[in-house]
Amino acid sequence: MLKINNLHAGVEGKEILKGINIEVNAGEVHAIMGPNGSGKSTLSSVIAGKEEFEVTDGNIVFAGEDLEELSAEERAHKGIFLSFQYPVEIPGVSVTNFMKTAINETRKAQGLEEMPASEMLKKIREKSELLEIDRKFLSRSLNEGFSGGEKKRNEIFQMAMLEPKLAILDETDSGLDIDALRIVSNGVNRLRSKDNAVVVITHYQRLLDYIVPDFVHVLLDGKIVKSGGAELAHELEEKGYDWIKQEKVSN
Ligand SMILES: Nc1ncnc2c1ncn2[C@@H]1O[C@H](COP(=O)(O)OP(=O)(O)O)[C@@H](O)[C@H]1O
Ligand SMILES: [Mg+2]
Repeated sequence: MLKINNLHAGVEGKEILKGINIEVNAGEVHAIMGPNGSGKSTLSSVIAGKEEFEVTDGNIVFAGEDLEELSAEERAHKGIFLSFQYPVEIPGVSVTNFMKTAINETRKAQGLEEMPASEMLKKIREKSELLEIDRKFLSRSLNEGFSGGEKKRNEIFQMAMLEPKLAILDETDSGLDIDALRIVSNGVNRLRSKDNAVVVITHYQRLLDYIVPDFVHVLLDGKIVKSGGAELAHELEEKGYDWIKQEKVSN
C-alpha cells in the first residue's frame, strides 16, 4: 500500500529526513517512535503532502502511484488521512456538517455523485454508535471549546466516516491524557481491518499498550535505526532512546 524509498526531505534547505525506507501493507499497523526532533512529524507531513517540506531524494509510492506530483488535497482524496495536527475551530459549522462536506468533496474528486442524505444519516448513525459518540456532540461547532479528548474524538470520527486506506496519527509530544488515550485506541482498534493500514506516530510507548502495532520503527535523527515487533516499544520504554544511540555507536 505505502512504500517509502530512500526518502530525503527537509525545509528551507535543511535536511531533516535522511534516507527513510518503510513498507506498509494493507491490514498492518505500524508505529513510528523517536525522541523529540527526530523527524516524526516531518515524515507524516511529507507523506500527507504538506507544501512547506521539500523532497530532495527518494520517493513515496501509495497504491502503486508515485505521490510526488500530488497535492495534499489530492492525496487525501486518494485515501491518505493525517490526524492530530492542530485542529481548526470553525464556529457555526457543526461536526456533522463539516463531515458531510468533507465526504462529498472526496466523492466529487472521485467522480461520484453526492452521497444521498439518507445514506449519510445512516453512516453517521453507524459510526457514531461504533465510537460511542452522542448526538449532542455531533451538533456542536467544530472544535469550538472542545477539550483535548473531544478533539481526538472528533478526529477519530472523521477517520471513521472517511474510511481512509491509510491513516497517519501523529500524537503531539505532550501526549494524550488517559481519557483521550482510551478514545483514540478504541476508535483505531474498531476501525482496523484487512483493507486499511494505520501508522501511529508517538513519542511515548503508552499508546502502544492500547493499539498493539505489528511493526515498530525507531526514528533517530532522520533515519530509521531499528525496526521490530510490538516488543520493541516495551524495550524502548524500559531502556530509553539512549540505549539505541549507544547500540548504534558500538556497531
Ligand atoms: N517548518 C519547519 N521549519 C524549520 N525547521 C523545522 C520545521 N519543521 C520541523 N523542523 C525541524 O526539523 C526537526 C524535526 O522536527 P519534527 O519532524 O517536528 O520532529 P518530531 O516530530 O520527531 O519531534 C527539528 O529539528 C525541527 O526543529
Ligand atoms: Mg512531532
